[in-house]
Order: sequence, then structure tokens, then C-alpha cells
Amino acid sequence: MAFTIAIDGPAAAGKGTVAKALAAHFGYAHLDTGLLYRATGRRTLDGTDPLDAARALEPADLEAGDLRTPDVAQAASHVAALPEVRQALVDFQRAFASRAGGAVLDGRDIGTVICPEADVKLFVTASDETRAERRQKELREKGHGAGFDEVLADLRARDARDSARAAAPLRPAEDAVTLDTTRMTIDEAVAAAIEIVNAARADRARA
Ligand code: DC
Repeated sequence: MAFTIAIDGPAAAGKGTVAKALAAHFGYAHLDTGLLYRATGRRTLDGTDPLDAARALEPADLEAGDLRTPDVAQAASHVAALPEVRQALVDFQRAFASRAGGAVLDGRDIGTVICPEADVKLFVTASDETRAERRQKELREKGHGAGFDEVLADLRARDARDSARAAAPLRPAEDAVTLDTTRMTIDEAVAAAIEIVNAARADRARA
């Protein structure tokens, strides 16, 4: 049985953590769709055309070790604004979402464009400052030192671009449940998300 969980939200709000934990808890497959845009953006850094880069993506590209760097994140946000790049990545995401056994996808347009019929839609968010703190810690752990103000400015620039673009902008689906993780620990956020999914699974079983 296919059961799709769509998770959207701005950068570093905790959606990846929640998505991974839900996938592990329910035994579903997980796709971090940001990696598709990061891998595409990374290929453009050496001058490759963005559409050619998106069309040439291979599973191994998603495993590259340097996809989490700030340069690749900004390149991802740029290529993600191109409708033809987004279109080239749709089929792969929809096929993943409809696999038997359940799937969790996280990104910016999963509940609005990729899986408008998802069984559960979450919009995971947090204050700008909290997100910048989390991203700074994550970068430090990977050996990329960056000042708080720089990380905050980077996140805001990326969110502004992701929200203002005409093609599949970042916004909550009308029927999404918002999870504001600003004052939550990871365990609290995951527990809240599990509760929301359990309620949807119970509804689906009754239907
Ligand atoms: O989730 P992330 O930070 O890894 O995403 C990197 C960039 O990719 C982000 O700035 C916007 C873009 N993106 C998108 O436009 N749509 C998605 N479904 C996922 C990511």
C-alpha cells in the first residue's frame, strides 16, 4: 500500500531530521529532495548548463560528500528557480512517492506540487535565529567555520529566493499541518510528527 508523507519548510527548520525519523519509525523510504537540487547545482559550479545537469543526475550524485556546503546550497537555490530544471526532476520524485510500502519526501514543494494528494502534509518551520544556530552548529561539526551573522544572512537570502520564485515557491499547502520547532527538542518534534501521522493512518484505515 502506498502511503505518502510530504514535508516542506524553509532551510534548517528540522524537516530532514523529522523526515528521517518518521521513515525509520514507520519503515518507509525517505527522499531528501533538496539533494536533487544540490547535486544539480553542484554540477553547474563548473559551468555545466543547469538543465543538462538535472537530466544527467545519477543516484551516485546524491551521495557526493560536498553537497552540504554553503556554495552548493546557494547554487541549488538558483537552479531550483528554473521551471525546466524542476520539471526534469518531477517524474523521479513522483515515482518515489508512490512506491508500495510508504514514502516520506521532504523539500519545498512536495505538498503543493509533487504530491498534492499526499496522505499527510507537514510544514516544518522555526524562527530565523533558531534555524541559523542549528545550521551553524551543523556546519561547524563538518569543519566549515562560519559566523552567525553570515549563516543567518545566507539562510534568509535562500528562503527569500525559494519563496519569491514563480515556479513552485516555498509555501505551506492549504491542508498542511504546521509544526513550529523553535522551542522543541528533536525528540519533541519527532513525537509530534509521529502523532500526526498516526492520526492520518487511523483515518485511512477507517475509510
Ligand atoms: O532542503 P535543502 O536546503 O537541501 O535544499 C536546497 C535548495 O534546493 C533550497 O534552497 C531550495 C531547493 N529545493 C527546492 O526548490 N525544492 C525542493 N523540493 C527541495 C529543495
